[in-house]
Amino acid sequence: MPGELAVGIHDLSIATTRYALTHETLAAQNGVDVAKYHDGIGQRSMSVPAIDEDIVTMAAGAAAPIIARHGTHGIRTVLFATESSVDQAKAGGVHVHALLGLPSAVRIVELKQACYAGTAALQFAIGLVHRDPAQRVLVIASDVSKYDLGSPGEATQGAAAVAMLVSADPALVRVENPSGVFTSDVMDFWRPNYRSTALVKGRDSISAYLRAVEGAWTDYTRQGGRKINDFHAFCYHQPFTKMAFKAHRHLLEFCGYEADDEGIGRALRHTTEYNAAIGNSYTVSMYLGLAALLDNADDLSDQAIGFFSYGSGSVAEFFGGTVVPAYRVHLRSARHRDAISRRVPVDYAKYRQMHEHEFPTDGGDHPLPRETAGPYRLAGLFGHERVYETGADSRPDRSPATAE
Ligand code: COA
Repeated sequence: MPGELAVGIHDLSIATTRYALTHETLAAQNGVDVAKYHDGIGQRSMSVPAIDEDIVTMAAGAAAPIIARHGTHGIRTVLFATESSVDQAKAGGVHVHALLGLPSAVRIVELKQACYAGTAALQFAIGLVHRDPAQRVLVIASDVSKYDLGSPGEATQGAAAVAMLVSADPALVRVENPSGVFTSDVMDFWRPNYRSTALVKGRDSISAYLRAVEGAWTDYTRQGGRKINDFHAFCYHQPFTKMAFKAHRHLLEFCGYEADDEGIGRALRHTTEYNAAIGNSYTVSMYLGLAALLDNADDLSDQAIGFFSYGSGSVAEFFGGTVVPAYRVHLRSARHRDAISRRVPVDYAKYRQMHEHEFPTDGGDHPLPRETAGPYRLAGLFGHERVYETGADSRPDRSPATAE
């Protein structure tokens, strides 16, 4: 609407882990036809954290380039979304605040609702900027997706972080009103406090996701949202990339359209590229879809993008956004591709060793060997306290806003 304040994503930066496990390696270990992973669920590899990497180190790694480019001026809030929290009380974002040297005049909170919380953070940030357009909000989502070894969920693990600077007059994506929201109490995926790995009822979670597509879209339409044909592309939450295709087919059919493979492929083109290599990153997943789309598609200026965010349990949201003209000079495409391509492939034994690693709970000093090649690392657990430090490659990236 003319005169309405545009608020949205001003900058976006992703980070992932040092290591990757290919689905060829996993298939060979589990005696599974690799085509099931490549074609059946649409995954090629998964990011695996080094022993001194976690949601905090990835989050700081994603956010540091944003702070280096834009400074801290106007940032009074950091919203940190995660399913794989490292503490029951303290927000992981407070560790990130220290690692990045953010000013003390900042409020920080951690948000949880399975894979949906990143979208809650984005929407809350937009509300804060509407209240005071001079403010900018740092939204960070960071997750390590972990299932039991040998379980069906194992092939859909992964890890990544995304940082987004939310501001008025954004350079990348204007997030639109309205949103369609949906909540339903289901047990499709959850993680009791005493477990480090998630529990999932795989087929039920697919059905619950598809019901949430219907619910969120119905509410979006009732709230006066766009018609489905207005959207140029769709970014879906991707527990595995095939889920985006199932979801879009379902939405088209729900809206009374015939869903042809070519049309679905066009609508999702590029949005699954990073997720296929990184795996499930829970709160980050839909935003990896956006990063891949912006980084790899032809000019999207003024195009409308549809977003569907789903968090098991379950909460979902559908909303639209418009890509800002000249967005391309603000992207970090080369850096994002490099973060994925420079991961070191590991064999099954090394993956298993990292998967099984857990700190002793005795309150002793447990330093960690240096493994990460990233700018921040977990130094260890000392007297029950997680201690973080800057890593080997801690030089700040002060690159200006030009395509990387
Ligand atoms: N070649 C090609 N495709 C194959 C295949 C082969 N050799 N073998 C199986 N497939 C296909 C199946 O047909 C199926 O496709 P469909 O869903 O389109 O029918 C797909 O591969 C998966 O096979 P399935 O037997 O269902 O696999 P699974 O029992 O190992 O479970 C998931 C797969 C995705 C359900 C499981 O990995 C999971 O639960 N992951 C977690 C999902 C999650 O995080 N949910 C919560 C958030 S939304």
